[in-house]
Amino acid sequence: MSHPLAITGSDQSGDPQAQRTARAFLVALHAAIRAVRLYPIENSAVQKAIVELGQAAERVELANGHCRLRRIGDYLFVNETRLRLMLDNYAAVAYVLGLLRDAGLGGLAVVSPTSPRAWVVLIGFLQSPPLGFPEEERREQLLARVEQAGVTCFEFYGPADESEQLETELDGKERARQTYVRSLDVTREVMTSARLGRNAGLKRVKRAVQGIVDAILTDPASLIGLTTLREFDDYTFVHSVNVSILSVALGRRLGLTKPQLLDLGLAALLHDIGKSRVPLELLNKRGALDDGERAVLQTHTWQGVLAIFAMQTGAARPWRAMTTAYEHHMRIDLTGYPTPYRSRRLSLYSKIIAVADGFDAATTIRAYQDVPWTPADVLRGMRDNPRLGLDAVVVKAFINLTGIYPVGTLVILDSFALAMVVAANPDPTILSRPLVRMVTDAQGNRVEDLRVYDLTSCDASGHFEHTIIRTEDPQRYGINIGDYFA
Ligand SMILES: [Fe+2]
Ligand SMILES: [Fe+2]
Repeated sequence: MSHPLAITGSDQSGDPQAQRTARAFLVALHAAIRAVRLYPIENSAVQKAIVELGQAAERVELANGHCRLRRIGDYLFVNETRLRLMLDNYAAVAYVLGLLRDAGLGGLAVVSPTSPRAWVVLIGFLQSPPLGFPEEERREQLLARVEQAGVTCFEFYGPADESEQLETELDGKERARQTYVRSLDVTREVMTSARLGRNAGLKRVKRAVQGIVDAILTDPASLIGLTTLREFDDYTFVHSVNVSILSVALGRRLGLTKPQLLDLGLAALLHDIGKSRVPLELLNKRGALDDGERAVLQTHTWQGVLAIFAMQTGAARPWRAMTTAYEHHMRIDLTGYPTPYRSRRLSLYSKIIAVADGFDAATTIRAYQDVPWTPADVLRGMRDNPRLGLDAVVVKAFINLTGIYPVGTLVILDSFALAMVVAANPDPTILSRPLVRMVTDAQGNRVEDLRVYDLTSCDASGHFEHTIIRTEDPQRYGINIGDYFA
């Protein structure tokens, strides 16, 4: 069957100019959507973002004669250009992919000059699609809404045939980002379906986990680095993906086999799926929860078991995922929740996921936590605070994996220069001396220094050239962690 959006093999992703124009359009779209979400329409920031979006679309049209945005599998295309995933845009790609999917869209085209109002109508719909309806109906509702508003400058397409998976050559870093985006997209789909009472299948989830495991076995640093970037809006989805990545990396450290890692990765990706049965107002609530609310939130453990039961899994039910959904907040001394009826020993997978879960949650800014701890503080707490109920051996392996100063930690050196940790030391026995990039000099002036410093290096007299004295909060210094991972 031919499809209006079928790719004709003319992938122009290699053309840098086309890439730039396409990226600018996508980033402008993402910025406008976020602005609309955060502020009232009259706000000048929203107005500016919308105008810039119109201009970016015009530039695409000027370059190619038309402007089409399409979703094919896990990839986004602007006209014939597949968007390369760069560090500054993969959050935007993941987000827009998700919005198009939610709206039941395979893509849209600008067919006549746009107005700011037209973009506002479009974004308004994309932000709150009628999720309870089947894909086709969602699209029809969009058409009706757009027509009703008198907007004629857009044309919409149904989803491209998913079997048309594109095999594209990606370099190592981009492959890691693609794995991340795909996992995020799948998690969003599974959790959204579960929220709507529709039962997603496990096939795509398994494929995404396969990607995570392959990446951890071949190039763990690239994928783990992505878990430190927290500019995403969808906390629960991002968190699930991060926990899956960290769990698989940790499982590998602990010597699990590849099939075990696949099982573990799947269990970790689904560990909070029960949250899809908890009201959104509660999940997004700012500030402290009262006892009743906390009790409802805590049901996500056993609700997770039910949600996994409801999935279309065929005969091979993911039993382990059910166990870990149930046990991941239980703590090894069973003082967590839910309270078990009789004594039990947590499965190793639950212990691993609890550590990855605790680390990611504590280092993330989210509704109930305005200032996150630094990663190093979190690790120290996990090691020294027995009340967290984490398994000591697993925590030790985790500290070995990430170093005492995990990737993305801002540190102060003994020279009083600020530096960013970009990798653990390749020698796992030297945990306190990671690889860093300089952020400021000793006087506090920002430096543009692309070099990576190994903190084990010594000067002529045999003393370490740099030593970490403590960690700092990057936010306090207005430092964007992502700038140091380009
Ligand atoms: Fe949880
Ligand atoms: Fe969690």
